Amino acid sequence: MSFNLPPLPYAIDALAPHISKETLEFHHGKHHATYVNNLNGFAEKDPSILGKSLEDLILSATGPVFNNAAQIWNHTFYWNSLSPQGGGEPTGAIATLIDASFGSFGAFKEQFSKTAIGHFASGWAWLVKDGDKVTIVDTHDAGCPLTQGKQPLLTCDVWEHAYYVDYRNARAKYVEAWWNLVNWDFANKNLASKSLG
Ligand SMILES: [Fe+2]
Repeated sequence: MSFNLPPLPYAIDALAPHISKETLEFHHGKHHATYVNNLNGFAEKDPSILGKSLEDLILSATGPVFNNAAQIWNHTFYWNSLSPQGGGEPTGAIATLIDASFGSFGAFKEQFSKTAIGHFASGWAWLVKDGDKVTIVDTHDAGCPLTQGKQPLLTCDVWEHAYYVDYRNARAKYVEAWWNLVNWDFANKNLASKSLG
C-alpha cells in the first residue's frame, strides 16, 4: 500500500476569502501532493518505507525521506488546524491551558503571531503540549515537534507557498487571516486524544 494524499476536510473554496480556492488548489493539489509522490518514489526503491507510518518515519528517517514524510504529516495537520467555522477565542480545555500558560488569550495570540511572522524563511509555527503546559515552537523547513517529544495541537504553515497567491510577501496579513480560521475544536480533540508530555 502506498501513501495517499488525504482529501481536504472541507470544500476547496470553503476558506475564502481568508485563504483562496487558488491557494488551496496549489497548496493541497500540487505542493502536498508532490510530497506524497516523492515519498512513494522513495518507497519504490526501499520497500521497508511502506511498512512504516508517517509518524514512524518522522521519528526514524533522515534526509529526503524525513523531509517528505514530515511535510505530508505537517500539511494534513495544517488543513485540520483550519476550519470555515473557525476563528474567535478558544473554548474548553485549550482555553484553560492557554490562560494558565500565557496569562491570557491576548498574550498568547501576540506571541504566536510574532513567532509565525518572525520565522526566518520556510517553516512552521506550532502550539504544542509540553508536559502540563502549552507552548509555542517554530520549526524550520519540514521540522515537526514530534521529534522533540512535544504534542502538536495547532499549526500555521509559514512557507511562502501558503500565502504568496493571496498576500504576496505580506506574511503578517496571512497570519491575521489564519486567526479567522483557527480550529479550536481540533486543538481540543488533540488535547483529549493522547498526551506525549
Ligand atoms: Fe505548505
